[in-house]
Order: sequence, then structure tokens, then C-alpha cells
Amino acid sequence: MQTVTELAGLRSALRAWRRAGQRIALVPTMGNLHAGHHALVRRAQQCAQRVVVSVFVNPTQFGPGEDFNRYPRTLEQDQAGLAALGCDLLFAPEVAVMYPCGSEASVRVQVPAITAMLEGAHRPGHFDGVATVVTKLFAMVQPDDAVFGQKDWQQLQVVRRLVRDLGLPVEIVALPTVREPDGLALSSRNQYLDAAQRARAPQIHATLQWMRAALLQGHRHEVIERAATARLQRFGFAPDYCVIRDADTLQPAPADAPPQTLIALIAAHLGRTRLIDNLPLGDA
Ligand code: PAJ
Repeated sequence: MQTVTELAGLRSALRAWRRAGQRIALVPTMGNLHAGHHALVRRAQQCAQRVVVSVFVNPTQFGPGEDFNRYPRTLEQDQAGLAALGCDLLFAPEVAVMYPCGSEASVRVQVPAITAMLEGAHRPGHFDGVATVVTKLFAMVQPDDAVFGQKDWQQLQVVRRLVRDLGLPVEIVALPTVREPDGLALSSRNQYLDAAQRARAPQIHATLQWMRAALLQGHRHEVIERAATARLQRFGFAPDYCVIRDADTLQPAPADAPPQTLIALIAAHLGRTRLIDNLPLGDA
């Protein structure tokens, strides 16, 4: 596996593959790769002959006071894992390669409406940073396919809108969330948890499952949301939101909406760590 940090190296590798008529898939990441990221790479290998993984901790999607500086950076370990998987190319640019005009003066991509709620409401500017960096990566790599995890459900919907609205020739492929055996969604942020917090963390997934069961029993969305929020608080979480929404628009849904069109989403603080997770409510 080749690792490149500059656009010239990226372009020359891509040029050879494109000339050979090979399909190229991109897996965008911020590194510190775990089994969830590895599952995206394996999915990408099913889509395309060549797989590019980007590792870039994107400063513009972190708010002031968030964990940009302490976000785990483990490039050598990531490189070894990707090589073992048979990934073709690792693109690991410095900030100046992704933001040659500086991040303040950078071209920005804004996706309206869907970014105003949930993660967008609690992390102002976050999705502008995500939409901007994903658009830059799509422009630099020009992949045929790009693979994203359902773990970041709202991000996935933002990317889908971006691609549709700009008419980008990229196929967006989504992969279900990879979990620990106890239900905790794999995340680079899990390592911030101490032992007692780690033991409580699976209650997020348990609460999502509880919400699904309550929905199938016919309870109203608002009633379920209130009870699930209280459940999280009893386990020591400080929830930012705990809601049932339309899975595509993320707007509140009518009481008679079929479960297949709905998703439950949670963001909650456990000590200093903020965890997010979701569950499509039509899944068995
Ligand atoms: P990062 O958090 O590194 O995640 C990279 C990709 O891995 C995303 O598509 C995310 O949804 C997926 N992922 C993370 N945990 C997962 C899990 N447990 N199961 C399945 N997929 C999982 O998301 C980002 O980086 C950034 O916002 C990025 C899109 C790279 C833009 O900077």
C-alpha cells in the first residue's frame, strides 16, 4: 500500500488506475481506525477495484472547546491495519494541503435545513466543516463510490444531499453501525471513557432498543422520547437529544408514520465524553 500526503502523489496514483479503467472507491476518515472503519474498507473493496482511504483530522468540523487537539492521531497503526486489509492507497494530507488558502479563507460548502437540527444545533458549524472537507476530498480523489457509516446518520444524509444538489458523480454507499458485543457503537471517542463510564456506555444502545420496542407497542413519539431521556439520565448521562425522527429528513414525523421510515437518535454526554448513536426503527 502506498501512502501519499501531497496532491501530486495522489493524482499520479489515481491517473494510472483510471487509465486502466479501474473503478475507485473512497473511504473518508479522521484516522484512529477501528473495526468499524475496517468494515467500510471491506465494503469499498466490494464496490471497486481500487480503494483509497483518507486520514485527515479536519479542523473546520470541530467547534471551539471540542477535542480537535486531543483527537487521537495514530497514523502508523492506521497504515499497518490498512495495508493488512489490502487497501491500495492512503491519503494523509497536512492541513495546508486540504486548506491551501487557510481554513478561514477556504471555500465553504453549506447544506441548509438538515444541518440546522440535532448535531448541527448542538455543534454549530460542524456540518459546514464536514460538507466542505467531503466536497474537497471528492474533488481531489474523484471517486466512483464513497463509503460512509450509518453510525453518523445525520452526516450520511448531509453527504447524500450534497451529492444530489451539486450533481456529483459519486455513488454513496452506507454501512450499518459496527458494535462491541455489549452493543456500544465503535468510536474513536470510546477510549476517553474510564472503566465505570465504559460499563454504563452500552445503555445508549439499550435505550435505542427500548425506544424501538415502545414504538412497536404503539406509544406516541413524544412519550417515548421523554421516557427514554429520563432512562438515560438515571444511568448518569446528560442527553443532548433523544428523539424519533423521519430517517431521511430528520424532521419530526406524524404519529402514524411506518417504523421503516423512522430512526431513533441519541447524543449524550458521559462525563466529558460526548457519544452519539442511532437505530433505524424498521430493522428487526
Ligand atoms: P470518522 O469519525 O473517522 O468516521 C469515518 C467513517 O467511519 C464515517 O463514515 C463514520 O460514519 C464511519 N464509522 C465510524 N464509526 C463506525 C462504526 N462503529 N460502524 C460503522 N461505521 C463507522 O466521520 C468522520 O470521520 C468525518 O466526519 C469525515 C466524514 C471523515 C469528514 O471529516
